[in-house]
Amino acid sequence: MALYSEKVMDHFRNPRNVGVIEDADGVGEVGNAKCGDIMKMYLKIEDDMIKDVKFETFGCGSAIASSSMATELIKGKPVADAMNLTNEAVAEALDGLPGYKMHCSLLAEQAIHAALDDYKKRNEAK
Ligand code: FES
Repeated sequence: MALYSEKVMDHFRNPRNVGVIEDADGVGEVGNAKCGDIMKMYLKIEDDMIKDVKFETFGCGSAIASSSMATELIKGKPVADAMNLTNEAVAEALDGLPGYKMHCSLLAEQAIHAALDDYKKRNEAK
């Protein structure tokens, strides 16, 4: 059996939603201290819905595929749904990741949560 599913390879080779949102409503950056990989998420939020999401990932293939899939899973969804996104759901949507690569999908979950926290903080400050 191949180590990586076709979906992982597809999202690694053709990642969706790569880039920056200049006027983002929330930005989250997280890193994995062990491997040094970094992920940054940008969210555009209107009426409690994720209108747009983009990411930059400086990391391994699994981290790139995970961030790509995570953006697809939350785009157009309510903020509450994005808040509940887990790395297990991201890995499942990718048809699985090798066990020792699950921490890469965790970066995607953490980056989205960090961006949502940033969005909430900005709103509280208003
Ligand atoms: Fe660092 Fe995958 S090895 S996120």
